[in-house]
Amino acid sequence: MITIRSEHARDIKEREALLDDVFGIERHEKTCERLREGRIPARGLSLIAEDDGRLIGTVRLWHVSVASLDALLLGPLAVSSHYRGQSVGSRLIRTALNRASLQGHKAVMLVGDAPYYKRFGFATDVMTKIDLPGPFDRVRLLGLELQLGAFADAAGIVKAVGEIMPSPSLAARKVRAREIAEAA
Ligand SMILES: CC(C)(COP(=O)(O)OP(=O)(O)OC[C@H]1O[C@@H](n2cnc3c(N)ncnc32)[C@H](O)[C@@H]1OP(=O)(O)O)[C@@H](O)C(=O)NCCC(=O)NCCS
Repeated sequence: MITIRSEHARDIKEREALLDDVFGIERHEKTCERLREGRIPARGLSLIAEDDGRLIGTVRLWHVSVASLDALLLGPLAVSSHYRGQSVGSRLIRTALNRASLQGHKAVMLVGDAPYYKRFGFATDVMTKIDLPGPFDRVRLLGLELQLGAFADAAGIVKAVGEIMPSPSLAARKVRAREIAEAA
């Protein structure tokens, strides 16, 4: 049975393998990647689709801002080629958007195929005054207001504002410090 759940640390290897499969390693060159690299995704908004323990889909949302608007950037979204057309992508998106809405987020943006994303309410018209920090195709820059009018005054270049991912050595030092504190 296909289920949607939050991503765990143990999923990272399989998730990255799926993304390499679907987008190739050139995915790391995308402008959106500049808004994601070195950042921690929004809490509770990294989702996995799995079928009997096998990872078959992924989506993550990231904190960004444009002018005074705090928003989310959605992507990458990918579904294993063997499972396409079975609503896995739709379930990932709808679950992520519901969770984002419940968390009080106001708006979501992404770069993707409008013919796919329009079914969830994403559109280009709210994004006309918004730019990304690198090359992008304007017809693929899409936005969805979770709160009516969220994009109304948003203009300018999107910035990454998510928490910075600690370096592996810093993360290890933090774990060690916690172990020492707990042992004391
Ligand atoms: C796009 C993607 C995530 C959709 O996942 P999925 O689980 O197959 O999607 P769903 O089953 O929820 O929806 C299938 C519908 O979306 C349509 N669809 C899929 N990809 C599409 C696209 N790029 N453009 C327009 N429509 C698309 C299908 O034709 C189908 O239409 P129907 O409902 O009228 O039959 C998946 O095809 C994928 O991983 N593609 C490669 C990576 C990618 O393009 N990711 C992001 C999109 S920019």
